[in-house]
Amino acid sequence: MEVDKYEKVWMSVTAVFLAFAAGTLIWSVVAHRASLPEPAGRIDPELVRETAPFDTPGLIQTGDNTYDLVYIAQAWQWTPQTVTVPKDAEITIKATTVDVLHGMKITDTNVNVMMIPGQISEVTDLVFDEAGTYQLVCHEYCGIQHHLMGAEIIVE
Ligand code: CUA
Repeated sequence: MEVDKYEKVWMSVTAVFLAFAAGTLIWSVVAHRASLPEPAGRIDPELVRETAPFDTPGLIQTGDNTYDLVYIAQAWQWTPQTVTVPKDAEITIKATTVDVLHGMKITDTNVNVMMIPGQISEVTDLVFDEAGTYQLVCHEYCGIQHHLMGAEIIVE
């Protein structure tokens, strides 16, 4: 079989690129322990409201300047709907869903996490360094009123 000279060149370029891509992937897994995200914990979706810390959703102080911010997602609202948190506090968000998939996006932050039935999602080292009102929106289609599923975080 005769292969054209230019075809050979492009096949070689492709092979080099694939080898480079595979090499960087292996390097990131071996040298930097890159892995897929894992849930922070498991929970029975039917027992969420009786299971700590989801039995008391909202802001829970855990130290001098550290807080857990606990959320329950349910079509089509967040609990709590409004919460006030101190500026510059170190916050850990713990969230789960009692029904279907939801997504949590907090405006003007890099918080962007999925709520998956049976799993606990966690966001660590969150600091609001500017006072104001932040919108928490659902970014995963969860039914006919998905677009109304929002909440507010007031930072002061
Ligand atoms: Cu919850 Cu979309």
